[in-house]
Amino acid sequence: MKKIYKFPEGFWWGSASSAEQSEGKGNTGKGKTIWDHWFEIEKNRFFDEVGPDVTSDFFNRYKEDIKLMKSLSHNSFRMSLSWARLFPNGDGEVNEKAVEFYNNVINTFIDNDVKPFVNLYHFDMPMAMQEKGGWESKEVVEAYANYADTCFELFGDRIEYWFTFNEPLGPVLGGYMQDFHYPNIIDFKRAAQVAFNTILAHAKAVEKFKKHNLKSKIGIILNLSPTYPRSSNKCDVEAARICDLFYNRSFLDPCVKGSFPKKLVDILKKYEQMPVYTQEDIETIKENTAQILGINYYEPRRAKAKENVVNPNSPFMPEWLFDPYILPGRKFNPYRGWEIYEKGILDLCNDVKENYGNIEGFISENGMGVADEARFIENGQINDKYRIEFIKGHLKYIHKAIEEGCNIKGYHLWTFIDCWSWMNAYKNRYGLVSLDLLTQKRTVKKSGEFYKLLSENNGFEE
Ligand code: BG6
Repeated sequence: MKKIYKFPEGFWWGSASSAEQSEGKGNTGKGKTIWDHWFEIEKNRFFDEVGPDVTSDFFNRYKEDIKLMKSLSHNSFRMSLSWARLFPNGDGEVNEKAVEFYNNVINTFIDNDVKPFVNLYHFDMPMAMQEKGGWESKEVVEAYANYADTCFELFGDRIEYWFTFNEPLGPVLGGYMQDFHYPNIIDFKRAAQVAFNTILAHAKAVEKFKKHNLKSKIGIILNLSPTYPRSSNKCDVEAARICDLFYNRSFLDPCVKGSFPKKLVDILKKYEQMPVYTQEDIETIKENTAQILGINYYEPRRAKAKENVVNPNSPFMPEWLFDPYILPGRKFNPYRGWEIYEKGILDLCNDVKENYGNIEGFISENGMGVADEARFIENGQINDKYRIEFIKGHLKYIHKAIEEGCNIKGYHLWTFIDCWSWMNAYKNRYGLVSLDLLTQKRTVKKSGEFYKLLSENNGFEE
């Protein structure tokens, strides 16, 4: 028997991208970001040595791209603004050419009935700000708050949903713990400072936002992974709990509840890894929490009790307290190395419902990056059945989450047109629309056609 998965009226169907991954440099006099800089000094770290200079050329092609979104029945789309485009030095005078560009983009979205959701920061630190210490510096936090304030002033009249950050955990892990973002530092204490200052920057942006008295809402987008223990053995359960504190609650609690988990703070104190902060910072975080939560879900996390004694001469890491666990026989995306576990999205939504006041939320990213998709071309079109299955598999659980009372308002796929994936550049493709990097030609994939019907029918049948 077929089942119909209908979603609530007004459900947000769309996708997401970011400035650094799709715009290209353009001609507004954009300042360098850490990605431009890192690519200049270490090209070999980027797949096929493709950098962020051109990417998918949204800067020059946004009109056609937005029309294409409209033709595939998107009703919303998340973009990000580039701090380094609006403020080439990170602070000082706003660049008028950049303002004109973003006004044109936002107005084009609105003219096409595609609601723009705007994110202020997606991994793209202006290099001038990194030179001042990046997120380790309170001066940079102030410059970010000023940038956010300027954006609310300039574009606030037309945007319904603002986001302070996308996946703030990304730069902490990549830049200060695991060497996949510039500045490639390995130092947990500095990572903790970066995390704390990002949370403070989020709160300061929310504080500024409230002063504008706009009708819109502001929130944050977090990459959350439900964390499962290997077994019900209490040692495994405790290991998973600690893993969850470091990688989920560290941001979720302060950004949604306004406070840090006590157990996490105790661990950081015990290992002498606490960031520097003031009581005023703590108050600002407490008073300025998110009004909406974007959930990016790609993979679950699994943990088990540590099997070996830690080398005391290795740098402190959360993994001193648990081991990651790989589930035998897991469903797996071999191109990205991520487990696929559709039910995880239901567990996450229920967690937010039960422990975070059922804050208004949506799935702000979910998707599947696949290499060499040209293999799947049939009659000139990529037949990406696996992506359609991936989307449906997750939507069934989102549907269930809504039935169970979760306050989920929409689903945004990562991404619309194949985009530049940081160190992976154009290796794995995520789009509903394929990109020919040489010609910049866009071709709708089978998943794009599926997604159009999904939005038009506000659901699917299976
Ligand atoms: C999310 C990010 O983590 O996942 C995106 O918000 C990113 O910027 C996406 O592109 C997919 O990950 P990746 O590393 O394969 O591009």
